[in-house]
Amino acid sequence: MSSVLYVLQGVTQRYNGRFVLSLDKMQIQRGEILALVGPSGAGKSTLLRLLNFLEPPTSGIIMFDGTAVNGNLPLATRRRVTTVFQKPALLKRSVAANIGYGLGLRGEKISPELLDHWLTRLGLQELRNQKASKLSAGEAQRAALARALVIRPDVLLLDEPTANLDPYNVDLIENIVREENQQNNTTVVLVTHNVFQAKRLAHRTALLMGGKLVELSETAVFFDSPDHPQTAAFVRGELVY
Ligand SMILES: Nc1ncnc2c1ncn2[C@@H]1O[C@H](COP(=O)(O)OP(=O)(O)O)[C@@H](O)[C@H]1O
Ligand SMILES: [Mg+2]
Repeated sequence: MSSVLYVLQGVTQRYNGRFVLSLDKMQIQRGEILALVGPSGAGKSTLLRLLNFLEPPTSGIIMFDGTAVNGNLPLATRRRVTTVFQKPALLKRSVAANIGYGLGLRGEKISPELLDHWLTRLGLQELRNQKASKLSAGEAQRAALARALVIRPDVLLLDEPTANLDPYNVDLIENIVREENQQNNTTVVLVTHNVFQAKRLAHRTALLMGGKLVELSETAVFFDSPDHPQTAAFVRGELVY
């Protein structure tokens, strides 16, 4: 089993004739937490959509676990990757129904034990029958994270998962992400505007600007002795975005 999970080679994405992503080469290691930082519009969410096979790139090759990604990627492979968005789209049903949803799609029913496990882990026991539409932002994000993790994905993509959440929820969510990574070797790609969050969680950190990969380094190197002047400026908070 190779330690490299994704290889992106010459990957570009163009919308309405405009390049929003252009990556010469990028690799994501199996079992790492990789933080993606960069100004708004840098192409971070676009990159996550490609990593989740939600759209094909305009050009280039994406290899996932040794297989070239194309329209024929088996459903079972697609389902190994899941995304949690900043504003989770929950079903207008109970918290419990939302958490069981992913298994339902796979024709399985969530067991009471597994449901209890996730409700407890995310601090949602008392909200199990609550309509998802009535949850606070932090509760909704915790329910979305439980829904994503209950299927035991190999890859968890997080798009600004804790933006605008209070410290209690940020801490809880970060701890779950760290535990999943350590206990199940779940590969995590985390888009964040919070450089402290990248420092706390990520093994490696990457800076995207204007659709290009400026630097991808070990997190300590990225923040303490970056290779690229733009990274240094970003870390010092000098880039306007
Ligand atoms: N579906 C789309 N159609 C047209 N333009 C898009 C689409 N998705 C994203 N873009 C543009 O691509 C650029 C990168 O967007 P995005 O990946 O969302 O950046 P980030 O997540 O880093 O803020 C932006 O200029 C955005 O407006
Ligand atoms: Mg985005």
